[in-house]
Amino acid sequence: MQIANRVVVVTGGAHGIGKALCERAAKEGAKGVCVADLDEAAGSSVAAAIGGLFVRCDVSDEQQVKQLVERAETRFGPIDLFCSNAGIGVPDVGGMVSGASNEQWNKIWEINVMAHIYATRALLPAMISRGSGYFLITASAAGLLSQIGSAAYSVTKHAAVGFAESLAITHGEQGIGVSVLCPQGVWTNMTRGQGQTPQAGDGMLQPEDVAQFVVEGLADQRFLILPHPQVATYMQRKTGDYDRWIRGMQRFRQKFI
Ligand SMILES: NC(=O)c1ccc[n+]([C@@H]2O[C@H](COP(=O)([O-])OP(=O)(O)OC[C@H]3O[C@@H](n4cnc5c(N)ncnc54)[C@H](O)[C@@H]3O)[C@@H](O)[C@H]2O)c1
Repeated sequence: MQIANRVVVVTGGAHGIGKALCERAAKEGAKGVCVADLDEAAGSSVAAAIGGLFVRCDVSDEQQVKQLVERAETRFGPIDLFCSNAGIGVPDVGGMVSGASNEQWNKIWEINVMAHIYATRALLPAMISRGSGYFLITASAAGLLSQIGSAAYSVTKHAAVGFAESLAITHGEQGIGVSVLCPQGVWTNMTRGQGQTPQAGDGMLQPEDVAQFVVEGLADQRFLILPHPQVATYMQRKTGDYDRWIRGMQRFRQKFI
């Protein structure tokens, strides 16, 4: 998938990785870029700078995701690439994996998982009938490995990876492309002010670096986009000897408590 002349939507496009994806899509010559976010001021300014369209959208609300698709398509035509990128973190509370409240678990589930399902539901039928369309789902290395200090983030990002796999397996032959973006640490609002964190172990990237990996991954139609290539080795270690991997993660966690 080349971005030039394509219609691109990026959720969470006002800040961080999403903002970098919007700017890079414009630079690559996208036909139209739609910046979707809750943050109206920042999202509008990203859109204005690249000649794009801002749509205020809460991705955890299915109706708003439908309206996002309609507004982007009214302005630019059929969406070629939907970057389902908005996401939040919820830390463990009181050092307990079950410490976050039900409200927090439900909220992170809606944003980090259901948003991908809403986007797919709104777009897939038309994409299938055209025989083309592409989803980039921003998960995280935490969705392949684990997030020390946030069970809710680990669980929802694993679910996002699982959904992306199902999407690729079920609809790939109908012309639907899928990539899942799984970085470790990236300097954004999500990580701002954090000191030495588990995800910083292999170095923090800038959002623009991540956008470069995305452009390359999309060009190759690669399912798994790993801006930190070490993650592939960690996955092999995990699947090669799960018990050893858990013991290693237990030791690793000790460094951060
Ligand atoms: N920063 C990292 O280290 C890192 C690592 C791996 C994965 N990720 C993932 O990358 C994605 C982008 O995160 P980021 O690091 O750029 O964070 P960020 O906080 O800079 O950006 C997230 C954006 O999503 C928007 N957003 C939040 N909730 C929303 C909602 N309900 N509807 C619409 N927009 C909403 C925010 O307003 C913000 O603009 C997330 O899915 C995150 O989990 C981040």
